Amino acid sequence: MRQKIENLKALVNSFQAKTADEVEALRIKYLSKKGEISLLFDEFRNVPNEEKREIGQLLNTLRQIATDRINSLRESLTAGSDCVEKQDLTRSAEPFELGARHPLSIVKNEIIDIFSRLGFTIAYGPEIEDDWHVFSALNFPPEHPARDMQDTFFIEKQPDILLRTHTSSVQTRVMKSQQPPIRVLCPGRVYRNEAISYRAHCFFHQVEGLYIDKDVSFADLKQALLYFAQEIFGEHTKIRLRPSYFPFTEPSAEMDISCNICGGEGCPFCKHTGWVEILGCGMVDPNVLEACGIDSKVYSGYAFGMGIERITNLKYQIKDLRLFSENDVRFLKQFT
Ligand code: DAH
Repeated sequence: MRQKIENLKALVNSFQAKTADEVEALRIKYLSKKGEISLLFDEFRNVPNEEKREIGQLLNTLRQIATDRINSLRESLTAGSDCVEKQDLTRSAEPFELGARHPLSIVKNEIIDIFSRLGFTIAYGPEIEDDWHVFSALNFPPEHPARDMQDTFFIEKQPDILLRTHTSSVQTRVMKSQQPPIRVLCPGRVYRNEAISYRAHCFFHQVEGLYIDKDVSFADLKQALLYFAQEIFGEHTKIRLRPSYFPFTEPSAEMDISCNICGGEGCPFCKHTGWVEILGCGMVDPNVLEACGIDSKVYSGYAFGMGIERITNLKYQIKDLRLFSENDVRFLKQFT
């Protein structure tokens, strides 16, 4: 018995295996119920009592050595596949594509950011509006030719309801619902009945600004717009205000910036004038303040409105307006 144990011990120490199957075969041959080592335990019954203690210890040691040897062979075979186990199996097979913000959102957020530094907060209004908020309250009397400045989508059978043609309608809502001081920025989508081409679309986006308080002057307007232009187009940008007409402001102006492509030298983009128009503005007409319940003898204010597409075109030189609404990922990806 002692000899058998010694022989098996030598054998166990020389166990080798190249595959998991070979390890399993060793386990079965030596350690399973009918395995050679297990059979020795059966024979143990016949060992004389005085030797039982010593042989029992030798047998237990043998079984322990064999178990350890087989376990370590098994581990060394699976060690190479560790990296497989450490992979994250919950990951999707395809890498995720990261989206980008739409260029119009990027520019809108930038405009909001700049004016919020001047104390402007945000206000929103509905895209489906009534005539009063879009036109009448803003000093466009019925039959006034200025209504033709914007080709309006009216809703059939309900001529009073329309798709807003400008975000100036949100001015009306803010002034109706709160007293000065008012300093709001109104971003949003607007609609006009225009044939779609590279330079016009039936919907686009505007940001309206409104500031009403005591003693607001044209100089305040000019300073705020200069600050805006230099923040968004760079510190060397110049501005120019040209007299214009809008029913809701008096006096009214259109603002040009020095062409940011040629720096004012003259190029095809600015039609060799060195200037490009970016927004309309003016002092809020007292009629508008009164229509909205604000005392025009106490308060004055300025307003401005700009197209987000226009500013985006200038910043990124996008020549075709239709790109903004086609959702072509090759275009959108460039803004990651
Ligand atoms: N609402 C005008 C438009 O859509 C833009 C505009 C011009 C807004 C002058 C203003 C303003 O607030 O003062 O063409």
